[in-house]
Amino acid sequence: MATRKLLLLPGDGIGPEAMAEVKKLIDMMNADFNAGFETEEGLVGGCAYDAHGQSISDADMDKAMAADAVLFGAVGGPKWDGVPYEVRPEAGLLRLRKEMELFANLRPAICYPALAATSSLKPEVVEGLDILILRELTGGVYFGEPKEIIDLGNGQKRGIDTQVYDTYEIERISGVAFELARTRSNRVCSMEKHNVMKSGVLWKEVVANTHKAKYSDVELTHMLADAGGMQLVRWPKQFDVIVTDNLFGDMLSDVAAMLTGSLGMLPSASLGAPDEKTGSRKALYEPVHGSAPDIAGQGIANPIAMIASFAMCLRYSFNMVEEADRLEKAIASVLDDGLRTKDLMSEGMTEVGTTAMGDAIVAKY
Ligand code: NAI
Ligand code: MG
Repeated sequence: MATRKLLLLPGDGIGPEAMAEVKKLIDMMNADFNAGFETEEGLVGGCAYDAHGQSISDADMDKAMAADAVLFGAVGGPKWDGVPYEVRPEAGLLRLRKEMELFANLRPAICYPALAATSSLKPEVVEGLDILILRELTGGVYFGEPKEIIDLGNGQKRGIDTQVYDTYEIERISGVAFELARTRSNRVCSMEKHNVMKSGVLWKEVVANTHKAKYSDVELTHMLADAGGMQLVRWPKQFDVIVTDNLFGDMLSDVAAMLTGSLGMLPSASLGAPDEKTGSRKALYEPVHGSAPDIAGQGIANPIAMIASFAMCLRYSFNMVEEADRLEKAIASVLDDGLRTKDLMSEGMTEVGTTAMGDAIVAKY
């Protein structure tokens, strides 16, 4: 039996509540399907700071590097507002992303049929929506140098951020985009602003070259990122995979996310480069939402974003495609049955808590 090593980092606030529902799934899959998951648990965020003064310990960092995949809950909360910048809860997540070199951030926007009516867009625009935004996560303007505020001495200051992309960074993110597209509807739309940015000129050129060299079976289109934002709201179903840089991806993925309703529904994956010997990738899976201190401890958090993140883990880290499909179908099915956590509640539906929602999904699997 294959061993599949998972590191669970539940974190703070509703993180542990949502993770508890994933643990039920892992236990069930081990017991009933011989899935061979081996789990370890670690501390990240505020709870780690409380335990040992760091937002993630070196020992837990080593476990993350050794695991086949990391499942991450959420970190932060008002309790840690005053802690020093370097050890604030978010620093733990940033360290994981940096040391695991998780350059590819996958944010699916899927509209479950049962929720189409509650979207802020017209039901026909979002019904059946299933797109994937791929955001470059370790380069671009958030990291480029120089990055500083200079005192100009005349009462003026200058704030500088620098957008930098090298060929290899664009090649590897576009490679992931084309490979993902092949497992979906085989279409990639690359978004940049080559009309006003040099890094955009290079982005477009390298994506096109990568396509020509290795992925010409995939349909590739290019779109200016601002127009892309418009198209995402106008007719999102025209897209399959969208690949874009760190800054545009940050915004476009948030826009796409909201097409589908509640924050409590949105999963994500962050992937590293494949290992040269084994071909396996470092990977971290987490819900898009934060620690939701306003509802933590009440048993009302929606566990679906965390559970859907686990489905992505099955799909992308373990190639358990059937199992991932089955889990996503179980989520759709409980929604079809009218079960709703508080954040999704609408008239005529049945309100359930975190545990009952998790149990219902386990039962449907
Ligand atoms: P948030 O995502 O924690 O909450 C925003 C709103 O959505 C709240 O009203 C919350 O109750 C609701 N919500 C979020 N997830 C939900 C779920 N699963 N079910 C039901 N309702 C849900 O964002 P906020 O309030 O801006 O930040 C709270 C804390 O989380 C802060 O300390 C922030 O720094 C941290 N944070 C951590 C992230 C992470 O761990 N990756 C990401 C975003 C924020
Ligand atoms: Mg954002």
